[in-house]
Amino acid sequence: MEQQLTFADKKRKTVERAEFTEDGRYLRKVRSFVLRTGRLSDYQREMMNANWSKLGLDYQAQPFDFRAIFGNDNPVVLEIGFGMGKSLVEMAQQNPERNYIGIEVHTPGVGACIAYALEKDVKNLRVICHDATEILRDSIAEGSLAGLQLYFPDPWQKAKHHKRRIVQPEFVQQVLTKLNSNGFIHFATDWENYAEHMLAVLRQFDQQLHNTSETNDFIPRPDFRPLTKFEARGHKLGHAVWDLYFTKR
Ligand SMILES: C[S@@+](CC[C@H](N)C(=O)[O-])C[C@H]1O[C@@H](n2cnc3c(N)ncnc32)[C@H](O)[C@@H]1O
Repeated sequence: MEQQLTFADKKRKTVERAEFTEDGRYLRKVRSFVLRTGRLSDYQREMMNANWSKLGLDYQAQPFDFRAIFGNDNPVVLEIGFGMGKSLVEMAQQNPERNYIGIEVHTPGVGACIAYALEKDVKNLRVICHDATEILRDSIAEGSLAGLQLYFPDPWQKAKHHKRRIVQPEFVQQVLTKLNSNGFIHFATDWENYAEHMLAVLRQFDQQLHNTSETNDFIPRPDFRPLTKFEARGHKLGHAVWDLYFTKR
């Protein structure tokens, strides 16, 4: 018998909006992700289905009203690609005076993050299961973010795939319009070539961004960033880690 698709199962199919050219043809976009077929466990599915109204946010074409969502005016930090969400939940727990919004397209990660947020009884976190670039463009008001964090994004190692890296000048430009004054951009990667690419892109915005690095490149790994799953995996493989931390001028 065919299994009935629940909200969580369907979500996987709606992580991006179909867009069309003026003459009605489907617009193929360069995406920073590939939807893996990774299985959504029964537990993750149940967590998503039962708690979405409390912890989930959906794509919307108008900016979110953060005050209505969180019930306060605390600064809002956005994390893109939180993976399984453990480090994001830990950060939210350690910083109750901030609100966090995490975006991830991988539904098992979204389910796992919701489960962990409930376990830790974290109130200052909401999750979104959608392409972050669309959320950033359409659902986030200008000047409304205190910070943007992106930890261990897919490195797209082959040169022919570099265009799929989420960090591009257009992306940083978009982030800049969404940050409030003094807002921060925090990137981390364990892929040297991507670290150099991130630095080169951020340096194009010298007028608008200040590099907090004393050496004008990378900062030492900050204690406030919890160890992420991909970072731990990188450690096992002997990878180094590069953190970049810029603030809006
Ligand atoms: C290499 S993983 C790192 C996960 C986590 N930050 C960590 O360090 O363990 C990158 C994640 O970014 C997500 N991702 C990539 N592009 C995305 C996008 N445009 N919107 C939302 N999530 C995205 C992927 O699904 C993947 O889970």
